[in-house]
Amino acid sequence: MRTDRASLLSRAVGKARRLSRRFGERVTNVPIRAANRGLSLPPSRLIYLVAGTNDLNWFLNSGAQAAASIRETLDRNGYDINRMGAILDFGCGAGRTLRHWDTLKGPKVCGSDYNPRLVNWCRKALGFADVRLNGLTGGVAWPDATFDLAYALSVFTHLTEPVGFAWIDEMARVLKPGGLLLITTHGDHYAQSLPEPERNQYHAGEAVVRLPGREGTNDCATFHPPRYVKERLSRGLEVVDHVPEGALGNPRQDLWLLRKPS
Ligand SMILES: C[S@@+](CC[C@H](N)C(=O)[O-])C[C@H]1O[C@@H](n2cnc3c(N)ncnc32)[C@H](O)[C@@H]1O
Repeated sequence: MRTDRASLLSRAVGKARRLSRRFGERVTNVPIRAANRGLSLPPSRLIYLVAGTNDLNWFLNSGAQAAASIRETLDRNGYDINRMGAILDFGCGAGRTLRHWDTLKGPKVCGSDYNPRLVNWCRKALGFADVRLNGLTGGVAWPDATFDLAYALSVFTHLTEPVGFAWIDEMARVLKPGGLLLITTHGDHYAQSLPEPERNQYHAGEAVVRLPGREGTNDCATFHPPRYVKERLSRGLEVVDHVPEGALGNPRQDLWLLRKPS
């Protein structure tokens, strides 16, 4: 019994370390206090739930990097987040990125997630943001044309194809005309680690979904070839920018900036 427990524990620790190393790439190691901004910290079980590691340092620093990466992507494409009216963090998790908008002066800051534990925590701890619950499918709780920007960091990476399409449509619904959608995907870098039949499927331009029955959780992993995002997933939206492995707070995921036509 003790041996079983010990081996389970050691497997879990090993997995956490591997994930931590994977997600930790490119994330600078700023001391916790500097990155924390004086806001409450989520319990480690919630950090683990969204990040696959309970490394607080990683949570804070990668979140800061994700927020900086969003700003930079907007700047590079001629948009200023401070001049926006409202922004939405779709699949906001434990507020890893959301918490870094606490001093943003311009836009109303909103978040949404399908997991009530994450939403409840964000509502309590990140009072500057309007955080609401949505279903795994369906819609978010805001009217048409509410947002100038919606972003979804490592969310479409855990959705099946039909559900992913439906959420793209839903994001388009809540964007203002000319509004922006920033998403991250598992692209070519992650496809290298797929077993051969799935890697071939990916290189033939098809999405690959692993463990679709666990959709919404990190156990389900979806891989989107760039061609698939350009020609299919982005339907109804214009592709403004694509940076392979450019999602700096979500290391080695591709970053996409899409725009709803005016
Ligand atoms: C890998 S975590 C990323 C969390 C957060 N975006 C971040 O970067 O820290 C994926 C998040 O997507 C959320 N999620 C998955 N499916 C969702 C859905 N259909 N609607 C809203 N959120 C969803 C999960 O609950 C989880 O918080």
